[in-house]
This record gives sequence, structure tokens and C-alpha cells, in this order.
Amino acid sequence: MTSFSEILKNATWGDHESAEDESYLKELMSGRLSEQDYGELVAQHYFAYLALDGAAKTLVDHPVAGRFVFPELYREPALERDLRTVYGAGWRDRIAPSKATRTLVARIEQVADWPGGYIAHHYTRYMGDLSGGQFIRMELQKIYGYQKGGGVDFYLFDEVGSLPRFKNEYRARLDALPFGEREQQRMIGEVKLAYQLNTEVLGELFHVIKAAA
Ligand code: HEM
Repeated sequence: MTSFSEILKNATWGDHESAEDESYLKELMSGRLSEQDYGELVAQHYFAYLALDGAAKTLVDHPVAGRFVFPELYREPALERDLRTVYGAGWRDRIAPSKATRTLVARIEQVADWPGGYIAHHYTRYMGDLSGGQFIRMELQKIYGYQKGGGVDFYLFDEVGSLPRFKNEYRARLDALPFGEREQQRMIGEVKLAYQLNTEVLGELFHVIKAAA
């Protein structure tokens, strides 16, 4: 029998391809963006992860969602170091959530009391950061010369240990979710929406940097 983690990945891989193909990421990976343009992405991540990790902190004791609370993943300190590196000490005054980020944050907050909803957004971000995110980090290090300590710390998960082992454990927890088929389908729908909202954040960034160019 196919496991839920496989069903979920297969059902949403097309959405992954749309996210991966987003023009902003293509420009970023090809080294055509300034550090300030890269900072726009870091800033949007900052607001999204305040919401996601903020939701996690309220769910620690939840019998289902609590299995997907991992303090070793929390991104706020790493994102603050990255923003300070890119924008300097005054970084807080330089950043604001975009319209697409505000929509994503509102959705994360809206579904935080539904375990499948919280897990959907957590999975879409963190499994991505632990997978393709590692490739993105290596490229960004080559392009901008960032070292550990600020710049791309967002993609560094030193406290997690072996990433493949962690991802296997994560998939085992997905497989152990006490969800019937209906609830599984509902969560798959939310992962698709999470991909879409994250892709819209990237799409909006592309327009912002093109308009400024
Ligand atoms: C340059 C862009 C990207 C590349 C090259 C990339 C690449 C990959 C690769 C190779 C995997 C498979 C890893 C494995 O099976 O262990 C993966 C998994 C994943 N990625 Fe991406 N990715 C990118 C962008 C994104 C974005 C923007 C998101 C979300 C907004 C995302 C979310 C995910 C998720 C959730 C998984 C886990 C799928 C699963 O195993 O269930 N990725 N990515």
C-alpha cells in the first residue's frame, strides 16, 4: 500500500514544479540579482516564518499537530542574522511584508487550529528548505560569498543533524497521522494552496525587482 507521505508528494509534485520554475528563483540562481534583491526574499521569509513558528509554539501540547513542532527548526534567529548581513543594523526599518506574504500569513494563522492545515504549511516550507533549499544555499554561497554566521543561515540546520534521517522521520510522522482518506485529501488540498501562496510570494518579488530595474 502506498504510504501517505508518498501519496502527498505525488499529488503535489506538479505544484512543486511550478514553485521551482518561478522566475525570481531562476534569476536568483543564475546570479543576476543584487544582494538587495536577494534581501527581499529573506524579508518575506522572515514574516512567513514568524507566523509558521508562532503557530508551532501554540501547538506544542497538541496530540496530533504537536508531532510536527520542532524547536530545532525555528528560523527567526537565522533570518535575523541574514537580514543584518544583507541590510545592516537598520534592517528592521528596511523590510515589510508584501501583499502576497500578508495573504500567506493570514492563511497560516487561519488554519492554525486545524492540525492538517498547520502540518500542510509546515511540510511545504520545511521539507522544501531541507531538500531543494540545500541546493539553493550552495548556489547563494557561491554567488554572494556568504559564510556561516549570516547571509544564508536560513538554509542551515545545524541543530537537526543528518538531514536525510530527519526527513525520513518526518515522513514516518506523516504516515502515522490518524487521518482517514477524506482528511488526507483535505490536507493535500491545503498543501496545494500552500504551494500556490508561496509561489505567489515569489511571483510578486519578481515584479518588484523588475519594476525597480
Ligand atoms: C530552486 C528551487 C528548488 C529546487 C531545485 C528544489 C528541489 C527539490 C528536490 C530535489 C526535492 C526532492 C528531495 C527528496 O526527495 O528528498 C525537493 C523536495 C521538496 N521541495 Fe523543493 N525545490 C525547489 C523549490 C521549492 C520551493 C519554492 C518549495 C515550496 C514553496 C519547495 C518545496 C519542497 C517540498 C515540500 C519538498 C518535499 C517533497 C516530499 O518529499 O514530500 N521546493 N525539492
